[in-house]
Amino acid sequence: MTEGNADELRKLVTPRDEGIIIRDSLPIYPSPKQAAVAHFLRRAATRDRSRTEDVYTDARVNVHPHIRHEVQALQHEGYDVAIVDTPPRHELSTQVQAAVDEEIAQLSKLPNCTDILFEPSLHPAGATWFRLAKYALALQTLYAAGTTTTLADGLDPSVFHEPIIDGLSSMERLRSRRGDQEAQSALDKYVAYASTPMSDHTDAFPSSRDFLVGVIDSRAVQTRADTAINMAREHMSSRPGHSAKRGVVTASLTCGAANPLFEMARSLDQGGTPISTILLIDSDEMALATAASLARSKGVEGRVILYHKDLFRHRLTSYIKPESVDVVDLLGLVDWLPDELRDRKTGLVRRRPIQRLLSDVGDIVRAGGMILVGNMLNRRPQQAFVERVWPSLFQRGVREMLSIIATAGFDPMTVQVRIPGREGVYAIYGIPVP
Ligand SMILES: C[S@@+](CC[C@H](N)C(=O)[O-])C[C@H]1O[C@@H](n2cnc3c(N)ncnc32)[C@H](O)[C@@H]1O
Repeated sequence: MTEGNADELRKLVTPRDEGIIIRDSLPIYPSPKQAAVAHFLRRAATRDRSRTEDVYTDARVNVHPHIRHEVQALQHEGYDVAIVDTPPRHELSTQVQAAVDEEIAQLSKLPNCTDILFEPSLHPAGATWFRLAKYALALQTLYAAGTTTTLADGLDPSVFHEPIIDGLSSMERLRSRRGDQEAQSALDKYVAYASTPMSDHTDAFPSSRDFLVGVIDSRAVQTRADTAINMAREHMSSRPGHSAKRGVVTASLTCGAANPLFEMARSLDQGGTPISTILLIDSDEMALATAASLARSKGVEGRVILYHKDLFRHRLTSYIKPESVDVVDLLGLVDWLPDELRDRKTGLVRRRPIQRLLSDVGDIVRAGGMILVGNMLNRRPQQAFVERVWPSLFQRGVREMLSIIATAGFDPMTVQVRIPGREGVYAIYGIPVP
C-alpha cells in the first residue's frame, strides 16, 4: 500500500465528530423486555373498558372438574368435604374484572410475562410488590388490595428497630444472622415497600390495584383465610364452655404478617368467644416485626406473643406449653413443603416433614381444639399464570392431603375439608383434636 493510499484509508476509518451521525443512523434494537412490553400494548386494547359498571359478583363455582369428581367420590365414602361459597374481601367492576382476566390469559402465554406485568413504568406498585413477592408482606397487600392506600397500610417501619423479640430488634437479629449489608438491604426494601402508594391510574392497562384485586390468587388467599376463620368460629362456638373463662388461645405457625389471625380475633371477639392470646411463630424476624406493627394498628398488640423460631429446628413443645392452644393456623406453609426436606445448614434429610410437624402440633393443642391447614389444589384455574409469577409450590389433591393427615396420626373421617368454590385454588383442612 502506498503512503497516499494509507492516508485515504485512515480518513475513512478515523473516528470524526460526524461518527455520531453514523451511530444514530443505526436502527435501535429494543431489549427483549421493551419489545415484549411494546408488542403486548399494541394488542387490541382491553384498557378502554368502562370502570363504572356493577361490582363483580360472579359466585359461580370455579373448581376444576377433576377436583369436583374427587370431592363427590370422597363425600360418597363418608368424608366431610364440601365446596363452600366464601365471598372475596374486594371486588372490581364487571368490566374491569373481565379486562384483568383477559390480560392474565394473554400474559400467561408469554415467557416474559412478569417483565411485562411488573414493568415499573406501567405498574409502579406492581413492580415494588413483585420485589417482595416471596415474602409474607406481599400477602398482606393481597389481603387488603381493594382498600389499602400504600402497599402496606398499618406497617410503621420504625418497628424494625424496636426491641420486640427477647429484648432485640428484628434488625439486630437479622444483622447477627446475615451481616450488616444484607440486613440493610432488607430494611431498605421493606421501607420502600411500605411507602409505595397503591397506584390506581396507569395508562397502559388495568392499574396495579386492579391486578392485585382481580387476579384469582389474590381473592384465593382472602377466601382461604376467611374460610379458615369461619371454621374456627363454628368450631369454638359449638363448644361454648370450652374456653369461656380463659378466652381462646390461638397460634399461627409461619405467621407471616398474621392477617388471618388478626381477623380471626376480630371475628371471635364479635362472636362471643374472644381470643385471649395470639402466639405468632416465624423464622423471619422481619415478618414478625411486621406482624407486631400490624397488631398495633388493629389494637390487638396486648394479646400477641412473638417467637422467632424455625419450625423444623425447634420442637414446638420446647417453647409452647403442651396442650395449651385451642386453634392452630398453618395456612400458607405446606404448599412449600416437599415430601423430603433437606436442612440447608446440616444437610440432614427429614422425611415426611408435614406429617412430623402435624404430629408435633397435636402436642400443643388442647383436647377439643382444632388445627387449620391450607394447601393449594393440584388442579386449579390460572395455573400457568401462577407458575410464571410465584416460585414452584407443592400442590396436592384432597385425597392426598387426607392421607398425609392420617399418617400424622389423625382420623381423616373427622377432618373438615372446605374448598372456597369461587376460586377453586385452595382446600382448607380443619383437623379436630379429640
Ligand atoms: C406464605 S407465608 C404465610 C403467611 C400466613 N400464614 C398467612 O396465611 O397469611 C409463609 C411464612 O412462613 C415462614 N416460614 C417458612 N418456613 C418456615 C420455618 N421452617 N419455620 C418458621 N417459619 C417459616 C416464612 O418466613 C413466611 O413468613
